[in-house]
Amino acid sequence: MTEDIRKIGVLGCGLMGSGIAEVCARQGFATVVREVDDALLERGMSRIRSSLEKAQSRGKISEADAAQTLARMIATTDVADLAGCDLVIEAVTENKDVKAQIYRDVENVVGAQTILASNTSSLCITELAATTSRPDRFVGLHFFNPVPVMKLVEVIRGLTTTADTFARAHRFCLTLGKEPVAAADRAGFIVNRLLVPYLLDAIRAHEEGAGSIADIDRAMTLGCGYPMGPFTLLDFVGLDTTYWIANIMFDEFREARFAPPALLKRMVLAGKLGRKSGSGFYEYPAK
Ligand code: CAA
Repeated sequence: MTEDIRKIGVLGCGLMGSGIAEVCARQGFATVVREVDDALLERGMSRIRSSLEKAQSRGKISEADAAQTLARMIATTDVADLAGCDLVIEAVTENKDVKAQIYRDVENVVGAQTILASNTSSLCITELAATTSRPDRFVGLHFFNPVPVMKLVEVIRGLTTTADTFARAHRFCLTLGKEPVAAADRAGFIVNRLLVPYLLDAIRAHEEGAGSIADIDRAMTLGCGYPMGPFTLLDFVGLDTTYWIANIMFDEFREARFAPPALLKRMVLAGKLGRKSGSGFYEYPAK
């Protein structure tokens, strides 16, 4: 635990929020996780319980650690329960207005020193910070999916983030057992700026006849040692998420390599979003 950050609030208990809440509680932080309704909260908490069971079955944590992790968590639908949090990490839907509203609600209940962080994958940190009354105590903390497994966190300093806020957020990531890197407040930060053009290029390569989806995936896993080929990763990240991030980067840089291919757009319009919808570049039969 860091000297000044003891209690964490996590806004949103979706794929990213649940993972962030889990790693915070696993590292010993009192963690309050907030969702908008009971059904979404229960879905998120059941994801956390499954992940803890998996970690246990892989010998990563003991049964007692898993039980203590859950005991350190408060799952709530009431923003008021975030009172007393030293750091609040927002992982809600990628919509600026929704985020601005939740920051206002949180700022009504937390203290003046509380740091607000966003797990946004592509929105501008400086712009999000400007919607709050504490742009100096606002920072980007971008985690990777699956959060309990991926070591990286990009720590993003907006134009108004103070050196002290950045340093405290960076130290917090180390305490979580993660490997933080400093990333500039530019669309896509570091990872998505390099990863997304590669994923978009894989779609273009396939459409141009370079190889089948399965063969391109096999080529990149066996030829480069990547854990997943680009189409498996696209389905894993979500085609809608990739499309969204690509558009934001294209808006910022106006470079063709960030432009989403027409096929990606049409798959999103057809509801083929990857694993989450059961269908993407591959099919995922319901279990
Ligand atoms: N808690 C703790 N550890 C866990 C765990 C859990 N819930 N679940 C699995 N693990 C551990 C396993 O024990 C194993 O550890 P060891 O190597 O020490 O044995 C390791 O994690 C791998 O687990 P599995 O064997 O179950 O899974 P796998 O080998 O099939 O790998 C994967 C799964 C980690 C997802 C791997 O395929 C991978 O790394 N894929 C790429 C993921 C990626 O690129 N993510 C980033 C996406 S981009 C993003 O997130 C940003 C954005 O903005 C879009």
